[in-house]
Amino acid sequence: MARAARAITKDIQSYIKKYSRYHQSVLSIEQFTHFGKTASVKESFSFLRFEVPIRLAHIMQEINHLPKVLLQTPSVELVKSWYVQSFVDLMDFLNDDFSEDDIERFTDTLYTIKQRHDKTVETMAQGVIELKSAQNKFIIDPKMQYFLDRFYMNRIGIRLLMTNHIALFGKHPPSSGKFIGVFEPNCRIKKVLEDAVAGASDLCARTYFDSPMVKINEHGVREGEDEVIAAYVPSHLHFMLFELLKNAMRATVEKHEAKDEIPDINIDIVKGNEDLTIRISDLGGGICRNKIKDLFTYHYSTAPEPDQLEGMAPLAGYGYGLPLSKLYAKYFGGDIHISSLEGLGSDTFVYLKALSQDAQEVIPMYNSLVAKEYEEIDQETVRSSQREWSCDSFYDGQIRSYSKPFLRSSGKKNGNGGGSRGK
Ligand SMILES: Nc1ncnc2c1ncn2[C@@H]1O[C@H](COP(=O)(O)OP(=O)(O)OP(=O)(O)O)[C@@H](O)[C@H]1O
Ligand SMILES: [Mg+2]
Repeated sequence: MARAARAITKDIQSYIKKYSRYHQSVLSIEQFTHFGKTASVKESFSFLRFEVPIRLAHIMQEINHLPKVLLQTPSVELVKSWYVQSFVDLMDFLNDDFSEDDIERFTDTLYTIKQRHDKTVETMAQGVIELKSAQNKFIIDPKMQYFLDRFYMNRIGIRLLMTNHIALFGKHPPSSGKFIGVFEPNCRIKKVLEDAVAGASDLCARTYFDSPMVKINEHGVREGEDEVIAAYVPSHLHFMLFELLKNAMRATVEKHEAKDEIPDINIDIVKGNEDLTIRISDLGGGICRNKIKDLFTYHYSTAPEPDQLEGMAPLAGYGYGLPLSKLYAKYFGGDIHISSLEGLGSDTFVYLKALSQDAQEVIPMYNSLVAKEYEEIDQETVRSSQREWSCDSFYDGQIRSYSKPFLRSSGKKNGNGGGSRGK
């Protein structure tokens, strides 16, 4: 029995290895929305039945490079088991001889997988915390930061593919006609911002019994339009703005707690030719230059550890808001920067692509260069503080595949066009 189980595991491992050698298909917002308007469920199925397992395989190969002590924590073992299960679930659909039923079952399977992985961020974070208690010391070393950035970025991409397919072809399509899957081609940036302001103000008021006012200004509104619009995934934008506003509000209230008045937070939305920038300016006392580099490190927080039993979502304390928001911005070619005047306040810049054809997915790819990178990080720990691991360097070695499976006719049985998968 044990031998049979070992054989199956070995079999799965060889499939994972095989799929991790295929190139992932990188898409732009323009391609996603074009596909959403024109494609059939069969075309989407034909693409995703390969693309999702390929993307899963890429990150599963990388998980094995984590330090053994972290890999052996119950939480990371649990996360790993979800990935294996989801990969196995999808192997059911690799056969070229599929029926209408299979296509319908595929959508349900994606839904199950999506739910299975709902708590991945929390569980992975728990693994890091388990490591902390086991080791009695705590640092997010460069290797872990590098891995977590790539792992969460991969997750953002896979979830987007799955939720988009479910939104387009699932049982409950979005009620508003403004959406194409999870994309909104004319997303009103100010509206998303106002929703995030409302949520953050509420949380801030519940924590501190007060919250700063927020003033919003728009610049670069195009002729014939009433406000700044862009094609984007509103849920991604909301995530980033909510996190950044919570930070700005917390800093502002804490800095001015003893005073009669809390200064406003000022936000500018600016649409240029290439960039759509959102600047959040607060007078929350700022951050010293020495600490700026730590802000995007996982688990870095100056807030007290959140009390899990309190029930209410905490305003701060996990140290995940900034690193995750940066990934969401980078995912479609943007970024987040913070500039600060210590003693006065901070400007947080969210950069997005103004044009949907420029907003290309940025996803980590696993290959031999990356495997080598993990070895080098081990050897370079001493020099690591001088290197930027988390931000712009981690996509080095990525070979982007510009095959456009969505735009191709669905005539081919293997859907993904084959060419981009063979290495
Ligand atoms: N606008 C700001 N002004 C001052 N400090 C800030 C600002 N934004 C972020 N910080 C600092 O950066 C740290 C990390 O922010 P981050 O959002 O990642 O984590 P957090 O707010 O502590 O917890 P959570 O993950 O729950 O949001 C904060 O604890 C805070 O010290
Ligand atoms: Mg925060």
